[in-house]
Amino acid sequence: MRQIAIFASGSGSNFQALVDAVQAGTLKANIKLLVCDQPGAFVIHRAQSAGIPTFVFRAKDYENKEAFEGEIKHQLEAAGVDFIVLAGYMRLIGHTLLESYGGRIVNIHPSLLPSFPGKDAIGQALEAGVKITGVTVHYVDAGMDTGEIIAQDIVRVTTGETRESLQDKIQHVEHHLYPTTLNHLFLTTGY
Ligand code: GAR
Repeated sequence: MRQIAIFASGSGSNFQALVDAVQAGTLKANIKLLVCDQPGAFVIHRAQSAGIPTFVFRAKDYENKEAFEGEIKHQLEAAGVDFIVLAGYMRLIGHTLLESYGGRIVNIHPSLLPSFPGKDAIGQALEAGVKITGVTVHYVDAGMDTGEIIAQDIVRVTTGETRESLQDKIQHVEHHLYPTTLNHLFLTTGY
């Protein structure tokens, strides 16, 4: 069974979908730790409600990325984590974590990569006027949303679409795609 940590910065609806899938037995993994870089984030309450330990930090309390990732690495090792799942973690992963967990870090991104990487992928898609966008699950490397693609699903952009309505549709797809893809990955790759 995979021992995973989930990294998140915000509301944590994807975190919740993963917790629910583990509880339902459709995602065969143990969620050992939530790592969160925003002390006020709602995802922390979700973890507490689910009885999942948290490591919450402020980047500005550390000298640099190497310093806070060193502390994260220590926390991951103490919790026995062997796989990292990014779910709305709004920071690039640095070399400290990539050296230890390279090939064992995945992310979910709200577009069909390689289109619309980086911040505000939903706004970028609306601005570009595309009629189809979607969701990508991918491995994490040193780039911004550049790692190997594992799975994708499409979302249609309809007439009169707003940022809120498109985000709702994308998140609905994410909450199904992420647990399903992770479970398949864990079963087929021996992670
Ligand atoms: C998700 O839609 C995720 O795809 C996106 O942040 C949202 C977090 O929502 N991630 C990125 O944009 C990463 N570049 P959540 O906190 O409700 O799971």
